[in-house]
Amino acid sequence: MSIGILTSGGDCPGLNAVIRGAVLKGITQNDLEFVGFRNGWKGVVDGDTVPLGRPQVMGISKQGGTIIGTSRTNPFEGDGGPENIAAMMEEQGIDSLIAIGGEGTLAAAKRLTDAGIKIVGVPKTVDNDLSATDYTFGFDTAVQIATEAMDRLRTTGDSHGRCMVAEVMGRHVGWIALHSGMAAGAHAILIPERKTSMEEITDWVRAAADRGRAPLIVVAEGFKLDTMDDAHSERGLDAFGRPRLGGIGDMLAPEIEARTGIETRATTLGHIQRGGTPSAYDRVLATRYGMAAVDAVLEQRWGRMVALRGTQIVHVPFEDALGRLKTVPQSRYDEAAVLFG
Ligand code: F6P
Repeated sequence: MSIGILTSGGDCPGLNAVIRGAVLKGITQNDLEFVGFRNGWKGVVDGDTVPLGRPQVMGISKQGGTIIGTSRTNPFEGDGGPENIAAMMEEQGIDSLIAIGGEGTLAAAKRLTDAGIKIVGVPKTVDNDLSATDYTFGFDTAVQIATEAMDRLRTTGDSHGRCMVAEVMGRHVGWIALHSGMAAGAHAILIPERKTSMEEITDWVRAAADRGRAPLIVVAEGFKLDTMDDAHSERGLDAFGRPRLGGIGDMLAPEIEARTGIETRATTLGHIQRGGTPSAYDRVLATRYGMAAVDAVLEQRWGRMVALRGTQIVHVPFEDALGRLKTVPQSRYDEAAVLFG
């Protein structure tokens, strides 16, 4: 049996560990064969494959990015669609697909599965916003990178007596901001789930400064002030027509400085959070996901994705992960807010 693997959407640390986990388990335990599709659904539409055997996956679980490439291609556009993909799979002797991706990838995978293509999913996103799984791999690494960056921002902030604003990823949800902000001891954490006024923010900044601290404010890219209808975006739309976010920290910093008189600097961490070596936690989770995806293929669990529940890897239908974001609950925000200011 031959299985095609693709990584699609934004990359994140741990993708290679999934590929390695799947290939090694499939080859050593089940005598399966694998190919990788280059650059996500684009490779599936074009029938563009690379061999994935033991030599190709050797030592890759610690490598960031994805050895088979990714893209934000929609498999229903251009030469795509279920008939063409089924014909390509038939021609190349590929029985089924393991699709590693976030909401967009899994939504496309569900449509293709409904049309008869055999697909199993593996959830991926640094934002950790997918329902039906406790954690996605990549998130832990992003939090670690953001926390280390904030530790550094604090020492320079302390030296100059400045307020430091750290902008992290998080389009719809504030998980990276909440966890890294709590870990770094931030004086306020601003997340997309909770609109906040400039008055509240400057109260927290002043309270920290009055105690002789250099205030650290963490803001997720998707955060909105109570005066804003949409998240801050100044770089047009991405391939899926979504606004490219980023820049809210630069917008807030001069406002904070003007209202408090405290010199303020902003740093946007951006794609640094998605690059480089995955944490040990993400390598383990990703490897287990890859191995479980092979089991799901052998059990013919088409239209399902592997997921983490507590410490167990389970399988859930694609639809459980779609249409409903896993947002930061009010209770988690309130818990963190006790330490603001
Ligand atoms: O969905 C993950 C994410 O990293 C978001 O936090 C961010 O808005 C987006 O991807 C950035 O996408 P791109 O890599 O296409 O700029």
